[in-house]
Amino acid sequence: MKRIGVMTSGGDSPGMNACIRAVVRGAIHNGMEVYGIRRGFEGLIDGEVEEMHIASVADIIHRGGTILRTARSDRFLEEDGFSRAVNMLDTFGIEGVAVIGGDGSLRGAADMDLAGVPVMGLPGTIDNDLAYTDYTIGFDTAVNTALMAIGNTRDTSSSHGRTTIIEVMGRYCGDIALYAGLAGGAETILVPEEPLDLASISKKLLIGKNRGKLHSIIIKAEGVDMPSDELSRILEERTGLETKVVILGYIQRGGSPTARDRLMASRIGYRAVELLRDGSTSKAIGIRGEEIIACDIHDALKMPKLSNAAEIIELSDILS
Ligand code: F6P
Repeated sequence: MKRIGVMTSGGDSPGMNACIRAVVRGAIHNGMEVYGIRRGFEGLIDGEVEEMHIASVADIIHRGGTILRTARSDRFLEEDGFSRAVNMLDTFGIEGVAVIGGDGSLRGAADMDLAGVPVMGLPGTIDNDLAYTDYTIGFDTAVNTALMAIGNTRDTSSSHGRTTIIEVMGRYCGDIALYAGLAGGAETILVPEEPLDLASISKKLLIGKNRGKLHSIIIKAEGVDMPSDELSRILEERTGLETKVVILGYIQRGGSPTARDRLMASRIGYRAVELLRDGSTSKAIGIRGEEIIACDIHDALKMPKLSNAAEIIELSDILS
């Protein structure tokens, strides 16, 4: 391939810029032209496409967000929008596309693949909800942001003798809560993968109080089937302990990416270029162990995400 495109799509994640940089500079290094597609599939439909150069990605490796911007596109899901997007690639002579995004974006890429567009799916989401890869770009930064929030909240919860529920993102996946909860020494971790047991949470809080604990941190994934304020009210009623709620929200999606996210983004981005250069297509790229892998994008999206929630929660219960 001589001319490729790169886009970011769906929710942004820290490390997307490092990945764009790797695709752009990797492509140029390999003698290819590279075009940036702005605002994901939405921008592609509208022809927001521009050639990128080495200098286009200067000074971005450490920045959160995405210089290409992003969007969630309803139009791409319609027949008309979809065919406009595919035709736009032809208009600009783009022979293959690297799509950096989460589950929905990679499904969009897989649809384009079925329409004959050579694609590479690159995992960029804080949620870590893609089964075919151990980690997604942005997850590590989000976990570290949540970890910092746990630390700060612990200080004030301890001063006031309160219980605090910290709600983290992740859509239907509990990984941010699990990793930040275990690393942050949270007393309780609640995720959608495990049943919500109000009696056992309340009992744990009271046992903690009776052995002199000044505070308790509950880290709760947003996918848990009970709003945090309702949970807080129920726990206050059951335990008599003052219970506050902190919803981290979009704070987790921004900030300078960690070294791990930058490294993964750089390696994954460059592998996408190598594969496109060699005429390979229909791949989802990820990481297993320390190895960068590429598998069929359709197979990748069919894999069920295996959860280690029970094991992590058990360990957290033992240690907290
Ligand atoms: O997929 C990333 C994510 O941040 C999820 O954790 C969250 O549920 C969702 O996006 C929020 O989406 P939006 O940016 O559209 O509000």
